[in-house]
Amino acid sequence: MRITALNNDLADDVLKLMDLGAPYVKARMPSDYWLYAKLFSSTCPVALLDNNVVGALIAMRSQDDPTEIYIQDVMTHPGYRRRGVAAELISVVRTHAKQWGCRRIYLTSEPENVAAYRTWRSLGFANSVGDYTIKGVQVIKDFKGPGKDRAVFELKVS
Ligand SMILES: CC(C)(COP(=O)(O)OP(=O)(O)OC[C@H]1O[C@@H](n2cnc3c(N)ncnc32)[C@H](O)[C@@H]1OP(=O)(O)O)[C@@H](O)C(=O)NCCC(=O)NCCS
Repeated sequence: MRITALNNDLADDVLKLMDLGAPYVKARMPSDYWLYAKLFSSTCPVALLDNNVVGALIAMRSQDDPTEIYIQDVMTHPGYRRRGVAAELISVVRTHAKQWGCRRIYLTSEPENVAAYRTWRSLGFANSVGDYTIKGVQVIKDFKGPGKDRAVFELKVS
């Protein structure tokens, strides 16, 4: 497996990969992937196997608080799961976070996304304290706006 930074030649394949992510990940618009490749490529690693895109992660370093990196989407092709693809993608972002002196990497998940929950926990993310729990997962009310409750996971960078 080879990891490379998102570029515009890969953007269409990354969009197609994200299209396979329902119900938890949805592809965004082509212009969004142009923007990620243009402005955030170092935090948007893509996993390639035999030149096929098998995984991708979209993240941004905050401008409001540059000590934080927010992961927007992580997706591994359904035929390539449980082979360490997500772990490798997160590790790339973690390396950048350390180089930049960031304090934390965080993301949100649907509380019922068990594969994601197990992945974040296995990679050292902690489930932030929430307002209520669903099946043992802490959920913060209105985290992404009214009615948009989310489970938040964060990885402290040291
Ligand atoms: C969540 C997701 C990205 C994990 O990707 P992955 O490449 O399969 O994950 P990895 O192989 O790196 O797994 C790392 C560890 O996480 C845990 N894990 C991952 N998937 C798991 C599952 N389905 N069940 C239990 N544990 C799991 C394991 O501990 C695994 O290590 P192991 O295989 O050595 O036991 C993948 O399932 C996916 O793309 N799901 C659909 C999209 C999605 O939900 N994205 C997250 C949105 S927030």
